[in-house]
Amino acid sequence: MAAIKLESCTFALFGALGDLALRKLFPALYQLDRAGLLHDDTRILALAREAGEPQRHLAAIDQALRLHVPAKELEEGALARFQARLHYLTMDFLQAEDYLALAELAGAQDQLIAYFATPASVYGGICANLAALGLAERSRVVLEKPIGHDLASSRAVNDAVARVFPENRVYRIDHYLGKETVQNLIALRFANSLFETQWNQNHISHVEITVAEKVGIEGRWGYFDQAGQLRDMIQNHLLQLLCLIAMDPPSDLSADSIRDEKVKVLKALEPISAEHLGQRVVRGQYVAGSADGRPVPGYLEEENSNTQSDTETFVALRADIRNWRWAGVPFYLRTGKRMPQKLSQIVIHFKAPPHYIFAPEQRQLIGNKLIIRLQPDEGIALQVLTKDQGLDKGMQLRSGPLQLSFSDTYRSARIPDAYERLLLEVMRGNQNLFVRKDEIEYAWQWCDQLIAGWKQLGEAPKPYTAGSWGPMASVALITRDGRSWYGDL
Ligand code: BG6
Repeated sequence: MAAIKLESCTFALFGALGDLALRKLFPALYQLDRAGLLHDDTRILALAREAGEPQRHLAAIDQALRLHVPAKELEEGALARFQARLHYLTMDFLQAEDYLALAELAGAQDQLIAYFATPASVYGGICANLAALGLAERSRVVLEKPIGHDLASSRAVNDAVARVFPENRVYRIDHYLGKETVQNLIALRFANSLFETQWNQNHISHVEITVAEKVGIEGRWGYFDQAGQLRDMIQNHLLQLLCLIAMDPPSDLSADSIRDEKVKVLKALEPISAEHLGQRVVRGQYVAGSADGRPVPGYLEEENSNTQSDTETFVALRADIRNWRWAGVPFYLRTGKRMPQKLSQIVIHFKAPPHYIFAPEQRQLIGNKLIIRLQPDEGIALQVLTKDQGLDKGMQLRSGPLQLSFSDTYRSARIPDAYERLLLEVMRGNQNLFVRKDEIEYAWQWCDQLIAGWKQLGEAPKPYTAGSWGPMASVALITRDGRSWYGDL
């Protein structure tokens, strides 16, 4: 691993005392350092508006590392090395004069990586201030989601950034793209000709993408209530997964070749008009129920909540892609908070053989499934039918997996967190796991028409009990097409 040691850089983390930085970004940087990947001269600048003794804020970062890095990966030597790279700076990100100290700390090093873990409303201001001090020419900027809350506001943010930075120095994060199994989709599809010949409407009947979370709002009511599950999860993570499943093979692995193919998919998504929303999209909101056997409050009873809110915490929908490869193949997307388990998986359902010769009562077993498990238990399984063993069995069919479990196969290797991969790729200057401006915009365009339809209909989200798989209407959405959600208990 040390063979790919990176060039030295200054990593400037804006919003360094926020939840994302403390929970994900510092632990990810620490892991890169522990793996010997960071150059000896790389420094990390923790930038936040909180005033006071830097030592106090550095201690908070240290505490966060000890909390969020697994105990067996906390090595005192590595921690000390990491801490020696860290500097804390109090800044108002919109005040130009506050950037002088940053410029001084950044020194004359070649590369500045500016990571914006702040509200998107200040991205433009930070860019302008970096430019004013002449820091922009040697910077890459990393933008966290959400970038806007609709097409118009996301354009405004992207345009403000683009006034300073060309697209090839802008890295938009969708942390799902950094997950190991998500990257494996590219390998699975394009390194195995076995699948590509089957990867179309002749052989695939439908696709399911489920991203379920057991947690509720986790103290983020203020943010979440403005967003809702469609903006928070579908607009980015689930549509990105859909793109990776549905895209045509790119001509090479370069960022733009991959992103060009993803954009074609987004452009081909069929809009869903208000009159079809009832059949094609389900919005839900959880009410009190249970998690891990303990009672939990409903969305409207969470801390700091507003009892009138009709924000959705669950969405299930049927998306159709208008092209030759996917005509007539529905993509069923489903995501929600307070589901029975944390589970992200994609299930590709293959069509049944054209002529059936086995016992009639076994017919429902027919049809191969490729199950791609992103979390937990990362792995890939292909459900195939074989004959049951034993003299008494005759030609009795059994569905079983041809299985690749990443944790069993690569037992010794730890699975890196998505942010480790993404930060590493920013430092390498590789954009292919980041989202281009036009991808974000087409994704917003598709989501905006759903939101407009909801507004027009004015219906409240359907209640579902915390700890269930969502409203009954979500089951009806798929059974109406003669199908069911894979593996629901
Ligand atoms: C974030 C959303 O992008 O993804 C959160 O804002 C969500 O609401 C999170 O909880 C889920 O990510 P993961 O990696 O835990 O599946």
